Amino acid sequence: MRIPFPVRAPYPRTRMRRNRRDDWTRRLVAETRLSPSDLIWPVFVHDEREARAAIPSLPGVHRLSISAFVDAVGRARALGIPLVAAFPVIRPELKSELAEEAVNAENVVCRAVTAAKEAYPDVGIMCDVALDPFTSHGHDGLMRDGEIINDETVALLCRQAIVQAAAGCDVIAPSDMMDGRVGAVREALDAAGYGHVRILSYAAKYASALYGPFRDAIGSAPNLGRGDKRTYQMDPANSDEALHEVALDLAEGADMVMVKPGLFYLDIVRRVKDAFGVPTCVYQVSGEYAMLRAAAANGWLDWDRVIMESLLACKRAGADAILTYAAVEIAERLR
Ligand code: PBG
Repeated sequence: MRIPFPVRAPYPRTRMRRNRRDDWTRRLVAETRLSPSDLIWPVFVHDEREARAAIPSLPGVHRLSISAFVDAVGRARALGIPLVAAFPVIRPELKSELAEEAVNAENVVCRAVTAAKEAYPDVGIMCDVALDPFTSHGHDGLMRDGEIINDETVALLCRQAIVQAAAGCDVIAPSDMMDGRVGAVREALDAAGYGHVRILSYAAKYASALYGPFRDAIGSAPNLGRGDKRTYQMDPANSDEALHEVALDLAEGADMVMVKPGLFYLDIVRRVKDAFGVPTCVYQVSGEYAMLRAAAANGWLDWDRVIMESLLACKRAGADAILTYAAVEIAERLR
């Protein structure tokens, strides 16, 4: 990039440190600001009595019962967080080869969404469209002869999107990386009378090693075992391909797009934002959160400062909104 102004008066007349001298000037010249309105809060919901169950690899994050989830949505509302993402923890006995539970209108995520929308209709609720919480093999799609089959999966994802929309979900977020799913889900939602439901597409989602704690949280880690998702999620080596993915999802009708993970992929966030200028979200994934937490727990990093810096970095890179497990504590601090 070209610097848009000539640097005319070098040191000692130009002293960059003048503007950094006091807190008020630093605030005055800050180029990026974080606000609770920038945050999306991912929350795990389980079908158990226990209100809060700890997740060892995600310190400070819990699996919540449906009623605790509703309270959490109320908390988000009080703090000005616009959107809460509900991630289901499915009991092992309900997981299956064909992910039938994903299209059960009475599954835990549907019941949680309905309860939350009844209590707090003005907080947005987002749901993933993907099969991994529901499959016995832990993959996002249906498997045949060891392969994830695209078009059959998409057909099921459309039904999953419809049961979630019927439950009251405002934002459908396809996170499965099947080809053509955004267009198919858009068409299915429209045909079923859910034309107002937004699609936030996980457009540039990488086959990352940073999803480990999330897979622990939803209990898909043991099922997936040594398997990986490299036949459908993106290769971390690629950047142009992310633009191709985003272009396709926008053409298919995505209202917002996402880059995931965050910190290792901020170059992608910047490219996407510059190329398309559309609402761009970034997911600060479980492994990013866990890394910072673990280092802080060891006394190696200052948690309060490092988490704030990491989120500011996402915004600086061009993100309009950030999914982060730290949403509530950050919103509290920004108040
Ligand atoms: C499911 C999904 C994943 C995440 C969000 N939705 C895991 C995966 O793709 O394996 C990861 C989020 C995180 O790590 O915080 N498709």
